[in-house]
Amino acid sequence: MANITYIESNGQTTTIHLNDGWSLMQGATANGIDGIVGECGGSCACATCHCYVDEARLGDLPEASAGELDMLENVAAERKPNSRLACQIKATAALEGLIIRLPETQE
Ligand code: FES
Repeated sequence: MANITYIESNGQTTTIHLNDGWSLMQGATANGIDGIVGECGGSCACATCHCYVDEARLGDLPEASAGELDMLENVAAERKPNSRLACQIKATAALEGLIIRLPETQE
């Protein structure tokens, strides 16, 4: 499990306690965080769960898969070196305290 902090583009900050195996996208949509849409339900097919991961913690995340990297080509907001898809990041103890920022738009 991990406490994940989401910072929306308007500065709204929410910390959510996620059980192991929940994706960061699921945590956001289940808790009413508007900055993540998750249109495809987490099958890495929509790019509406784009987020910017705290650079200092990038090494704590598993590498992005080829499919995630492909889908990151389709994000609506600017893609940055720390861009990831929240549906492809699963909560584990290694992510405790992780901060992600959400882009202004997902579509
Ligand atoms: S929810 Fe569709 S790509 Fe993440």
